[in-house]
Amino acid sequence: MTDVSSQGSTPGDERPILTNRQGHPVYDNQNQRTVGARGPATLENYQFLEKISHFDRERIPERVVHARGVTSYGFFEAYGKWGDEPISRYTRAKLFQEAGKRTDVAVRFSTVIGGRDSAETARDPRGFAVKFYTEDGNWDLVGNNLAVFFIRDAIKFPDVIHALKPDPVTFRQDPNRIFDFMSQVPESMHMLVNLFSPRGIPADYRHMQGFGVNTYKWVNQQGRTHLVKYHWMPKQGVRSMTEDDAAVIQARDLGHATRDLHEAIDRGDHPEWELLVQIMTDEEHAELGFDPLDDTKVWPENEFPALPVGRMVLNRNVDNNFAENEQIAFGTGVLVDGLDFSDDKMLVGRTFSYSDTQRYRVGPNYLQLPVNSPKNAQVATNQRDGQMTYVIDTGGENPHINYEPSLRGGLREAEFATSDDQGPVITGRLTRKRIPLTNDYEQAGQRYLLMEQWEKDDLVKNLVTNLSQCDRAIQERMVWHFLMCEDELGLRVGDGLGISPDDVKRLEPLASQTLTDEDRRRMANLG
Ligand code: HEM
Repeated sequence: MTDVSSQGSTPGDERPILTNRQGHPVYDNQNQRTVGARGPATLENYQFLEKISHFDRERIPERVVHARGVTSYGFFEAYGKWGDEPISRYTRAKLFQEAGKRTDVAVRFSTVIGGRDSAETARDPRGFAVKFYTEDGNWDLVGNNLAVFFIRDAIKFPDVIHALKPDPVTFRQDPNRIFDFMSQVPESMHMLVNLFSPRGIPADYRHMQGFGVNTYKWVNQQGRTHLVKYHWMPKQGVRSMTEDDAAVIQARDLGHATRDLHEAIDRGDHPEWELLVQIMTDEEHAELGFDPLDDTKVWPENEFPALPVGRMVLNRNVDNNFAENEQIAFGTGVLVDGLDFSDDKMLVGRTFSYSDTQRYRVGPNYLQLPVNSPKNAQVATNQRDGQMTYVIDTGGENPHINYEPSLRGGLREAEFATSDDQGPVITGRLTRKRIPLTNDYEQAGQRYLLMEQWEKDDLVKNLVTNLSQCDRAIQERMVWHFLMCEDELGLRVGDGLGISPDDVKRLEPLASQTLTDEDRRRMANLG
């Protein structure tokens, strides 16, 4: 007889009965089974052991980056054309074709460096990841809010993240480590000029832009390809914070951006973004002075206008944070017919990394989870087994035939998709080389010049505050880079650190650098 010293059921209470996962009713959820009221406890107490051991496993590894985030749902609505031009001229992707066509989406916004419970006021890039549940299967557009990135080759990703994450000994995020790395990676200047400006602390997620950052391709019905870059523009406008604004919010709320999004959706104030694309012919474009496959660059909008292709509305919060936000899994490899990869060296590395980490983080069957499975397309595979197998996706076919080809039934291949043999022919030697046209400084300098005065002031202040905590050699190299980007930026940061152009003119270019004529001119004029 169970000792019902707990509340137990009261007559007239119609709520469902608590059970364990075996379906056994729980009669006492307050007391373990013990020998006598004061213990000791017994080991065969299945109900207690199931409860506590499940609890022991409640956490899965957090994302190695972008651990803190929030997911919500909504729809994407296509415009079908811009002006008189049908979008089908550039892509055959079904979700874009008809004006008014809606596709379900799940969107996850995130910070990058902090852990799962860290402050959302951090100076940090923000993730902007969209999963489109299309009729051709899922498409993930995994971007950020700053349009560019720190590095252009995926092989450096673990290094840039290690430098940005806390020190492995002191566990403190340390400007001396961050700028030690960045000072040796001049391609990071464009991202740094953005990150240390007010844009580096978005006011919240609703007032934030998004960018695909990497260069992708669009493929039309004839197999013709174009290079594309994606942009999300918030209808709510763009708002950012200074460090002082952020400190006030952080003092009372570590999750203000998640709360803001949840509350807006709950009160029916549904945030909306317009999706725009920039399009370029699928060629090298040496005339641009930068490489269009380089994710440290933006494409000038006067030459490549951002063309609106649809809008996205978020109108539903998750029912469960763990199932839908923690376990949602995005990846750059997740494309549908009419969309393709470019040879962007970051993109190819990212494409391996996402699904690799998700097989580890969530498990090999992560795509069977409701939030990740393609809810508007049929899934039929010969993949079987593995931890947490939940469904056997035979597509209704003979369950004995989990191989292909077969005379006895099972699944067949789809019609040949022309996307396998389009795009330019590329020849080259296997090599390990940086891209020829690095042009690390020009756009960083232009970005500085385009800022309003208060943004310039804030950028300089933030850089000086952080660089003041760095070794002199790192400070000098950073001032040298900023002088190479734009005189005024270099002079002002140098001024704040007590470093003049004369102090840095003896520095040689880094061995890893390819300089433009403009870089050489600036170098000659230092001091
Ligand atoms: C998340 C790798 C560059 C945007 C992640 C995750 C990994 C990763 C391993 C965790 C995924 C998970 O646990 O589900 C990489 C690598 C990169 C790279 C190897 C470079 C080679 C970028 C860039 C962007 C970006 C350039 C922005 C355009 C994101 C976003 C997430 C993410 C938004 C969070 C997705 C979510 O909300 O679940 N990345 N990343 N990453 N990354 Fe990257």
